[in-house]
Amino acid sequence: MKKLFAGLTLAAMVMGGAGLAQDKPPFAMEIKARQGIMAYRALNLGRLGAMAKGEAEYNAEAAQAAADALAASAQLDESLLWPEGSDHSANPATTADAKLWDIETDYDGKHTEFVNAALAMQQAAGQGLDQLKAAMGPLGASCGSCHKATRIPN
Ligand code: HEC
Repeated sequence: MKKLFAGLTLAAMVMGGAGLAQDKPPFAMEIKARQGIMAYRALNLGRLGAMAKGEAEYNAEAAQAAADALAASAQLDESLLWPEGSDHSANPATTADAKLWDIETDYDGKHTEFVNAALAMQQAAGQGLDQLKAAMGPLGASCGSCHKATRIPN
């Protein structure tokens, strides 16, 4: 009997927890996770961009580290990050536009473009400043073209 009560208490606690989770703004966890990944991309892209623009001295090791980090972030499994309906109208914490889930927007195609550009940067960044600069254009453009299509205008 004691065991049964313990089980019931545990079940009540788990359900209570689920109730609490529902009181949070919708998709709070997913939005936090994907914004964190995006911020990590921006941090590493910024490092490469500073070298490309001559604001920071080119350093092959630092460039390679930033490019490796970007490539790793590009290859994360995003399957839990973008549940349909988790756009700005559901939760103002996100800048994702509902258009993101339209087939015509081709989120997956834009994501693939970014993956390819990040992998190309990974090959180039440690080879020299000219190589880094050449890989920068397509990489920056891949971030921008996805943002233009999938985020609410600010
Ligand atoms: C395939 C689409 C896609 C690609 C590629 C992409 N992003 Fe994003 N990014 C988004 C979306 C959608 C959001 C809005 C996320 C949210 O607020 O929930 C976003 C948000 C951001 C944010 C704001 C995060 C915040 O805290 O609000 C930054 C910074 C960012 N992206 C940087 C980058 C950089 C840098 C790259 C390229 C290296 C990149 N993104 C590539 C779709 C993309």
